[in-house]
Amino acid sequence: MKAKGFNSILMQKNILILGACGQIGTELTLALRQEYSNDQVIASDIREGGENLMDSGPFEILDATDYDALEEIVAYYEIDEVYLMAAMLSATAEKFPMRAWNLNMNSLFNVLNLAKDKKISSIFWPSSIAVFGPNTPKMNTPQHTIMEPSTVYGISKQSGERWCNYYHHKYGVDVRSIRYPGLISWKTMPGGGTTDYAVEIYHKALSDGEYTCFLKEDTNLPMMFMDDAIRATMAIMKTDITNIKERSSYNLAAMSFTPDQIARSIKQSIPDFTITYNPDFRQRIADSWPNSIDDTEAKADWGWKAEFDLEKTTNEMLRNLKH
Ligand SMILES: NC(=O)c1ccc[n+]([C@@H]2O[C@H](COP(=O)([O-])OP(=O)(O)OC[C@H]3O[C@@H](n4cnc5c(N)ncnc54)[C@H](O)[C@@H]3O)[C@@H](O)[C@H]2O)c1
Repeated sequence: MKAKGFNSILMQKNILILGACGQIGTELTLALRQEYSNDQVIASDIREGGENLMDSGPFEILDATDYDALEEIVAYYEIDEVYLMAAMLSATAEKFPMRAWNLNMNSLFNVLNLAKDKKISSIFWPSSIAVFGPNTPKMNTPQHTIMEPSTVYGISKQSGERWCNYYHHKYGVDVRSIRYPGLISWKTMPGGGTTDYAVEIYHKALSDGEYTCFLKEDTNLPMMFMDDAIRATMAIMKTDITNIKERSSYNLAAMSFTPDQIARSIKQSIPDFTITYNPDFRQRIADSWPNSIDDTEAKADWGWKAEFDLEKTTNEMLRNLKH
């Protein structure tokens, strides 16, 4: 029998996405189904997702904190790789600290332990710029620096990073991670984060011509268009294992902007658009995060390069949401 080449082995792997119906999971599932085949990419969540996702391949109702149920699905579909997208995000986590901690940590331990026991071979787990805190250098925040997160979400992400690093060095687990900035997308609404304003604003600009922002006009945060985030996620998972030098999580950057700047970019297409400001509890969270991120390591180790700036993002968002 002819030996299988590396590419054909790569193309044969079965993938499970946990939390597939959320903002990132939906687009990631669709992109992975394009890259591999629909049947090789199993979507799962505690609720059903949009039509595109449900109609394009296998779907299972699965609670990522339930180890036995997870193990059963992994065995049934002969899963090789897991993408853990289930989590409670920053703004919601401030309201339900213990639920956030339990979901964010137990789901991670479940997939790390599956890999430790050789039931799966690789894991993608997303971290966030929320791992940084008020004492972190705000401009061009380095890969390795003071962290000290001040939110429940940030504490869970920083702990998660330490556990990923530990499982890699102690047990040889191939877990790869990115610190996503705020993500902007049009296919699915965001799920309770502090950067959600940068999606809502486009919807409101088109439906009402005005938007009341929950952050102050000069709050500068790192952001990324979803296409870039999905490309980065697939790139880090496809790169040769020897290229992955950072086993906590990689800094990743595309652009930084304020609510005032995004409003101005929308006005280029919708001149009558108006924005007002009514900051709430999320301002405190945003104030604890960096203004911009240094992603030199991601560029050097696995060739990361962003494609979308604010202008291109605004054009894509308005064009797609109009339909
Ligand atoms: N969206 C962003 O801007 C952003 C930025 C940084 C990091 N992240 C991280 O990326 C990951 C995905 O984020 P998202 O924006 O898609 O979140 P989301 O809230 O949009 O989606 C999360 C999904 O997880 C599902 N879920 C909740 N509890 C579950 C459980 N017990 N078992 C299985 N599924 C469950 C939800 O139903 C939802 O569909 C998270 O880890 C998040 O922290 C997101």
